[in-house]
Amino acid sequence: MSEIKKIGVLTSGGDAPGMNACIRGVVRTALYHNLEVYGIKSGYNGLIQNDFVKLESTDVHNIVQLGGTILKTARSKEFMTPEGREKAYQNLREQGIDGLIVIGGNGTFTGASAMLREFDLPVIGVPGTIDNDLFGTDMTIGFDTAVNTVVEAVDKIRDTADSHNRIFFIEVMGRDAGFIALRSGIAAGATDILVPETVTYIDELVEILEKGFLKNRKSGIVIVAEGDDAGGAFDVANKVKEKYNHIDTRVTVLGHIQRGGTPSSYDRILGGSLGYGAVNALLEGRKGEMVGVKNNNLNYTPLEKAIKHHKNIRTDLLKMARILSNY
Ligand code: F6P
Repeated sequence: MSEIKKIGVLTSGGDAPGMNACIRGVVRTALYHNLEVYGIKSGYNGLIQNDFVKLESTDVHNIVQLGGTILKTARSKEFMTPEGREKAYQNLREQGIDGLIVIGGNGTFTGASAMLREFDLPVIGVPGTIDNDLFGTDMTIGFDTAVNTVVEAVDKIRDTADSHNRIFFIEVMGRDAGFIALRSGIAAGATDILVPETVTYIDELVEILEKGFLKNRKSGIVIVAEGDDAGGAFDVANKVKEKYNHIDTRVTVLGHIQRGGTPSSYDRILGGSLGYGAVNALLEGRKGEMVGVKNNNLNYTPLEKAIKHHKNIRTDLLKMARILSNY
């Protein structure tokens, strides 16, 4: 018999489409098991400031289709300090909350595993970040929607690139990871894709663009992950121009448009399933684990492992993308 009676849920770090579907999954599953659920506002800041709100079934009515997070989110600096975490833990105790579900990315899980280490708090992590950079899950909540947003934008840019015979350098999110760049680049038929996980050789890129030009292709799309070692899209465009100045180039930074909008069906289903899985994990007595999805099945990974292990990008797909775009 589980001792968990009252749980808390929060979203932290960058918001991601599908977080609301996950909150709904947590609340409805908890209520089904006769647990009380509290939403904690603005991530770990709400834990420190005692900003808790009791959630009932109607509070999560009509949110499955909404982007953003109804609980709001933050990157809490105070929670990174032992004093901040002590305050947070005392507030949880005073509220009588005996299990916590945190939805977020790397920073969120780092905070959660500190709470486990320092106070033995039963905490379960749910991967919610558009970056898809967490080890132990095939997909993170928000990634699929972000990729679809990028593809839609690139399709539009391609029309104008083609009309004007221009090469566009399009910067997508991913400070440390190229998952968005890789997947959206393949889907949008990009000429080349630059990711932080591999070294970018500008000469090689110029060669690819030149080859295309010789084949009478005067327009093109280069997707640049924001964390690429050659710099952002502006830097890459300048470096290419220095070596190959007879092409007309433009740069588009897609920015935070990638984080918003209606979640895709995939992200709604993923969010709901992981919310369901997170509550069940607490009831089974699990703690300090992330619930993710592997080969369409729910899968649990210790938080420490999810943070410290690096999820590898399929670099072979970069080669495939070049072959498919036929440059
Ligand atoms: O972690 C998700 C992410 O969207 C990254 O891809 C991006 O680098 C970062 O957040 C931007 O964060 P902020 O909105 O805090 O500037």
